[in-house]
Amino acid sequence: MVLPYPDRIPIAITPTPLEPLARLSKRHGVELLIKRDDLTGAALTGNKVRKLEFLLAEAQAQGADTVITCGGAQSNHCRATAIAARRLGLDSLLLLRVPDPENPPATDGNILLDRLVGAELRWVTPAEYAERTKVFARVAEELRAQSRHPYVIPEGGSNALGAWGYVRCVEELARDLPPGKATLVYAAGSGGTGAGLVLGVKLCGLDWRVVGINVCDDRDYFIRVIGELCEEAIARFDLRIPFRREELEIIDGYVGEGYAKSRPAELRRIAEVARTEGILLDPVYTGKAFHGLAEELARDRHRFGERVVFLHTGGIFGLFPKAQEIAPLL
Ligand SMILES: Cc1ncc(COP(=O)(O)O)c(C=O)c1O
Repeated sequence: MVLPYPDRIPIAITPTPLEPLARLSKRHGVELLIKRDDLTGAALTGNKVRKLEFLLAEAQAQGADTVITCGGAQSNHCRATAIAARRLGLDSLLLLRVPDPENPPATDGNILLDRLVGAELRWVTPAEYAERTKVFARVAEELRAQSRHPYVIPEGGSNALGAWGYVRCVEELARDLPPGKATLVYAAGSGGTGAGLVLGVKLCGLDWRVVGINVCDDRDYFIRVIGELCEEAIARFDLRIPFRREELEIIDGYVGEGYAKSRPAELRRIAEVARTEGILLDPVYTGKAFHGLAEELARDRHRFGERVVFLHTGGIFGLFPKAQEIAPLL
């Protein structure tokens, strides 16, 4: 079936490989595979670039010269946006959430890359961030007053348009996986990846489960956010698929100490996966989600059926600012 994709600028290296996790499969008693979306690019590593292919196509079509977006201080989405925008000759302005804007974090990890490509960084408090729609409008107005042409990308690139990035990923998986049942497991941060996967599985008519493990907020929040994204995409793109929020699967219980905060068990899991499979997970998203997957499998190896695909959504630069926490565990 030919899907009604919106315009896209190819900036991600796709299709990404689907690889077996031979040793971890043995350990957990199920067939475990990994979709290597950490290989969508070197600096552009991770899931965000798939969404940006569609979002930046719209930005260019609208004649934008600057993209505005937001995230946590070490946001992978902001880093990917800044680099991808620069590749297309666009400027970027990033609203980065920090506890105290007077004492911004060190130029490390993703922040180093943001600054290398010349993104304009604005530190915002958690309270300002909670009102980010208003801040976006204010900043966009400020740029327009300077005769610039801003394009606003929401947190995580998660909206109906960005969701197409993960519809494409499902099409790749459908080519690589044998027919039959499978469960896709992913880290949910702002919901766009989950929405794209759910829509993709429906559009491709696959008999797959899509299970998110939230790394912030809670299950109810993600059912609502992913539900809204799916509904928005179905309406905007006139997709003829049935959808009910009750179908969404989110496993709560692995946020741990909070967003971007690590527990020793999560960091030890990252080291275990690195040492058994040579795969590098990140501390904020994939490390927590994989930890959740492994814990759930340890409790019940049949929990997700016989074939499980873990979606590696990238995030490697988030490891470096955690070096001092990780080193004692090695
Ligand atoms: C490495 C990584 N994995 C997963 C996610 C979560 O994806 P989403 O925001 O689409 O839920 C993000 C971003 O939030 C991310 O940077």
